[in-house]
Amino acid sequence: MRLIFLGTPGAGKGTVATLLKERLRVAHLSSGDLLRDSVKNGDSTGGEIGRYMKSGALVPDKLITGLMLSHLDQFGVSGDFVLDGFPRTVEQAQDLDRDLAGKKNAPIDLAIDFQVSPETVVKRLIGRRVCEKCRLNYHVERIPPRKPGICDRCGSELKARVDDQPETVRKRLAVYEDQTAPLLDFYRRSGKLRLVSGDQNIEDQYQELIHVLERDRLLNV
Ligand code: AP5
Repeated sequence: MRLIFLGTPGAGKGTVATLLKERLRVAHLSSGDLLRDSVKNGDSTGGEIGRYMKSGALVPDKLITGLMLSHLDQFGVSGDFVLDGFPRTVEQAQDLDRDLAGKKNAPIDLAIDFQVSPETVVKRLIGRRVCEKCRLNYHVERIPPRKPGICDRCGSELKARVDDQPETVRKRLAVYEDQTAPLLDFYRRSGKLRLVSGDQNIEDQYQELIHVLERDRLLNV
């Protein structure tokens, strides 16, 4: 199966993609993680990318599209994957379709829109903590680590993301409405859009996705 995860910041895209990877061995490629790696590694474009991300704006298409498409090649012609956070503009979606078709790769099967209220998003992101090393996500109240500030899985320090400040979260939500929401129509028109509620606990959200995949015969019932 080849899936795209859409949805506002904090809709649970990364959390559900991690469950799919752990439980069904579906590869997970996160545009945000690739961009954060570029910043951390001090790549030639890392400084510029970091400024966009910190402000809550989208990184320009020309920087993110090449990065994602080069990593996509590793999955081969028909490998299963979830793209989390890419595409995020209609231009990125058109480039992705062209790239897959040009290399005779299997097309995207479905785009999943995780729907969640802005109030929930703000609470989730302000409370989010991320492991610096293995990137596991926590929430200070709802998904707390056993020992405060320390990752259960690898023992490294947990930190808030630089773009999870309240003002930046509001900016990211506005950017989503302006630049990413038009993408929903793009996938609706091609019959590939499916909706899943993000306003429920994470296990229920995962199970709702599984039902969608079963109905579309991407998983055996
Ligand atoms: P990115 O890293 O992709 O961030 P985002 O889309 O803003 O998404 P988040 O990671 O904030 O949310 P999520 O939906 O994955 O939720 P999560 O599962 O983590 O992008 C960051 C930046 O990079 C962008 O602003 C932009 O600058 C740039 N960028 C990235 N892609 C780009 C592109 N294609 N083009 C241009 N620029 C790009 O959950 C959040 C929190 O809530 C966690 O603490 C989690 O534990 C908790 N939680 C999740 N689900 C639940 C639940 N159901 N119940 C309770 N708690 C939950």
